[in-house]
Amino acid sequence: MAETTPLSPLSVNPFTLGVASGDPLPDSVVLWTRLAPRPYEPGNGLPADGALDVQWELASDESFRHFRRNGTVPAPAADNHTVHLDLRGLDPGRDYWYRFRTGRWISPTGHTRTAPAADARPQGMTFGLLSCQQYDEGYYTALAHLAQEDLDAVFFVGDYIYENAIDAQAGARHYTDAPLPPFFDHWTWTLTDYRLRYALGRSDPDLQAAHAAHPWYVTWDDHEVENNYAGDVSQNNDPVGTFRARRAAAYRAYWENMPLREAHRPVGADMLLHRRFHHGRLAQFDLLDTRQYRSDQAYGDGWQYPGPESEDPARTITGDAQERWLLDGLRTSTARWNVLAQQVAFCRRKNTTADRSRLSMDAWDGYPASRARVLAGAGRAGVENLVVLSGDVHVHYAMDIKEDFDDPASRTLGVEVVTTSVSSGFDGQEKPDDWTLLLAANPHMKFYDGRRGYVVVSLDEGRLQADYRTLSGVVTPGAPVITAARFVSEAGAPGFSPA
Ligand SMILES: [Fe+2]
Repeated sequence: MAETTPLSPLSVNPFTLGVASGDPLPDSVVLWTRLAPRPYEPGNGLPADGALDVQWELASDESFRHFRRNGTVPAPAADNHTVHLDLRGLDPGRDYWYRFRTGRWISPTGHTRTAPAADARPQGMTFGLLSCQQYDEGYYTALAHLAQEDLDAVFFVGDYIYENAIDAQAGARHYTDAPLPPFFDHWTWTLTDYRLRYALGRSDPDLQAAHAAHPWYVTWDDHEVENNYAGDVSQNNDPVGTFRARRAAAYRAYWENMPLREAHRPVGADMLLHRRFHHGRLAQFDLLDTRQYRSDQAYGDGWQYPGPESEDPARTITGDAQERWLLDGLRTSTARWNVLAQQVAFCRRKNTTADRSRLSMDAWDGYPASRARVLAGAGRAGVENLVVLSGDVHVHYAMDIKEDFDDPASRTLGVEVVTTSVSSGFDGQEKPDDWTLLLAANPHMKFYDGRRGYVVVSLDEGRLQADYRTLSGVVTPGAPVITAARFVSEAGAPGFSPA
């Protein structure tokens, strides 16, 4: 695709991909935007060298009457004209509004909120849980509804983009109004491919609204690089050097396009993404990366019978360093709730009622030694209110984390909230073909819904509540949202029951 002449000065609005905020701390938040007057060109339609200056404004009210602060931040060409402003010196637990300007152009306004002070005891908190937004499989209607929720933050647990070739004729979205640019008809391999894929997703008004409404804590799963990759091992066992080059391109584009701090900027094919946040003394959040350091899936991946290979204690889904970091963090936690925000299903899921059943080798079921070490570490740490947040499976589940998944009478160690997809899998259905079977085969599974949507989780000193939002469909835009189910788990007595 030929690049047109760079725009100089900015004669076209560069704020085509919206604004975002992320990783709020008590005194700091990251503000993000990307200058892209021509978002479907590799260089955004801007000069290939240097940096453009962007002015930022922060206020304590939406109309910017109560002016607080402003300044200038560069949008370097080397970062694909993205801005990552790590704003410090803010007040804890406060709402802020922000916007950017360059030339005569002004961005949409974003809203964000800092975390409470470290020693605060907030009454409660409410957050959204999201994953899996395959652009060509449906509209991001769920995100339009999420933008209207009153949330402290959003946790996005993977599959922000997909790496597939997009068939403009076959997908859920039809490009009659705006034909799909030709750059999306092949699989993502290069830095340019990944950058453009983020531009495509971020062009969506519902995704822009969801980012503008709330601060996001993001982590990735596989499709930000390639389906079911494991560490340095690609799905189809590409040469490691080839795959690491792809991973480096994917990680770089991910960092550029997410509201992440400089500390997470990748170095080659390595990027530190796991990190810890607090909501006062109410909750500790450990965002995990179960892709970058995992052992290759056992038995060639897919759904397989467990055996010596999958049960090898040397296997890991987190890598040793991240596992130590996680267990150290649980040991020193003083939070009421300890929340692991991560990618793939944590609880065991059998797909038959027989004693011996195939399990998903890509989820924690394929890494049972890792799961046992995390649960043992949480137990030693005296973590009484363990919560795992997951995505990946494109269905909603509410599950109890059992000491022994084969014994429904064994202790419940925590709860797992699995969110369905925003759009992956087209419309889905309330009760998929395996609905009856999975609920029968897994007594710790309290809820299963196969429609699109997201989850709203509320925490206070006494309990966790998970509201499972669903949509009738995403292949056509504009579906209303309903709360399909509401489950609660009491502090000190984990286990889901319907509210
Ligand atoms: Fe997905």
